Amino acid sequence: MLDAHNIHKSFGEGAILGGVSLQVRKGELVSIIGPSGCGKSTFLRCLNFLEIPDRGTINAMGVTIARDGGPWRRADEHVAHRLRTHVGMVFQNFNLFPHLSVLDNVLLAPRVVKGETGPTERDEAMALLEKVGLGRVAQRYPVSLSGGQQQRAAIARALAMRPEIMLYDEPTSALDPIVAEEVLGVMRKLDDEGMTQIVVTHDMRFAQVASDTIVYMDGGHIIESGPPETLCVDPADDRTRRFLRTVL
Ligand SMILES: Nc1ncnc2c1ncn2[C@@H]1O[C@H](COP(=O)(O)OP(=O)(O)O)[C@@H](O)[C@H]1O
Ligand SMILES: [Mg+2]
Repeated sequence: MLDAHNIHKSFGEGAILGGVSLQVRKGELVSIIGPSGCGKSTFLRCLNFLEIPDRGTINAMGVTIARDGGPWRRADEHVAHRLRTHVGMVFQNFNLFPHLSVLDNVLLAPRVVKGETGPTERDEAMALLEKVGLGRVAQRYPVSLSGGQQQRAAIARALAMRPEIMLYDEPTSALDPIVAEEVLGVMRKLDDEGMTQIVVTHDMRFAQVASDTIVYMDGGHIIESGPPETLCVDPADDRTRRFLRTVL
């Protein structure tokens, strides 16, 4: 489903990703954990070319982009655009458009892709809002919603592109535990439906109960990965053990 191979990324002199490789199977839920600043967000953003890797290859849904340190060309941007149509992204701070109703936020993507939207698109958008539990607030503006509702609206908006893969960067870090639970519930529902999901998270409880695979990153590298029952109980690397001791 998604294959990232040997991804390198620097900002100026600083090497942030030093050759990160990750394979994700269809329907898998992968949590990425690790200390702040270790490159988790950068790696996630590289997966859909919000950040352009310096080197490495990414294949998602059969769309391949290989980087060899050369310039990023217009043709590459076209391929990246095609790749992004398969990959939805959700951010820590929701990034909803404040001047649009929740429904219009969800309708934005189909509107851009198809031009005008009619009753069909509207019904589909409403169905997505029902699915994340927001059918009754579809006409409201983001500012009048709780953080948890806003984040669920952001998920519905990403789903409107009909992505095969969803990426989340700390989706619940800005939320208190109760509303965070509603967001995590939506992600688990999507998991049950077979969605492929990659989640950068601080929420170790979610990572442990919901993930097929937990990836531990440190210093721009994947140190180890495995199912929660292995990685959290008997990690192979000292760095993983130390990190887990501080967060569990
Ligand atoms: N656009 C950028 N320009 C310069 N440095 C950046 C940029 N984005 C991230 N960094 C740096 O890269 C490192 C990794 O950041 P990030 O991927 O956000 O880590 P994490 O998500 O694990 O906390 C940090 O030191 C951060 O300051
Ligand atoms: Mg981050």
